[in-house]
Amino acid sequence: MRERTIVITGVSSGLGKALFDELHSVGERLICISRRFLEEQKAGAGENVSLLACDLSKSGEVERTIEKLRKLVRTGEVIFIDNAAIIQPIGSVGALQSGQVNAAAETNFISPIRITNALAALIGIRTLTVIHVSTGAARHPIVGWPLYCATKAGLRMFYAVVAAQEKSSGRIRVHEFDPGIMDTPMQAVIREASPNEFPRSEEFKNYKKDHELSDPHTVAKRLIREYIQV
Ligand SMILES: NC(=O)c1ccc[n+]([C@@H]2O[C@H](COP(=O)([O-])OP(=O)(O)OC[C@H]3O[C@@H](n4cnc5c(N)ncnc54)[C@H](OP(=O)(O)O)[C@@H]3O)[C@@H](O)[C@H]2O)c1
Repeated sequence: MRERTIVITGVSSGLGKALFDELHSVGERLICISRRFLEEQKAGAGENVSLLACDLSKSGEVERTIEKLRKLVRTGEVIFIDNAAIIQPIGSVGALQSGQVNAAAETNFISPIRITNALAALIGIRTLTVIHVSTGAARHPIVGWPLYCATKAGLRMFYAVVAAQEKSSGRIRVHEFDPGIMDTPMQAVIREASPNEFPRSEEFKNYKKDHELSDPHTVAKRLIREYIQV
């Protein structure tokens, strides 16, 4: 029988919640790493679902969570969906607060590297597939999103190195998944920014008004169809 574990970060909203819903409904074994969990997720926790509460912006919490992860994942096939991210701080370089700079770097860049490194070190597991949820902002500079662009671009390069390192082994595979613009709380945060902080704010308000944002469940189904095959 196939032994497969799917590790997902950030399941309390948006794409992560949709992935949780879709994968839980078909009985996949899930390990969820998130700052908070919804009541329905807590109710579903048990043999097939482990909920590890962790603030990914805090390195101590991440290290403790990695210890738990090592105990929960020992063998078989592992899929890591690197999903959690924050768009903040939104604003001009020169007006950034150092606490927010740290939080973005830890959440979007350093924590996924730590988790990937720990999973890659588990010699008992047969294969590791990393699905890195990326964004166009990792490839194009967007004024007002300096940390989001920089951390997502940095992580994209980290995973490119992992893919190059593992090219001949086949034990670790990396997929980059760009979800496009989705109707999630992250987009609500973007719409709240003033034009001073984010010059394209009007354009993003129009995406919502004109129904151009994708439903996260539709996007989750696409990710699963392309890379997981339940
Ligand atoms: N929305 C878009 O249009 C869009 C476009 C391109 C790419 N993406 C990418 O898609 C992914 C999902 O985004 P989304 O729109 O679904 O965002 P979202 O609705 O804001 O959800 C982000 C998830 O990450 C969690 N998270 C944030 N900071 C955390 C922390 N410090 N520790 C632990 N968990 C934390 C959130 O938990 P809390 O509830 O505790 O905050 C939430 O569960 C991200 O990688 C994003 O870069 C999104």
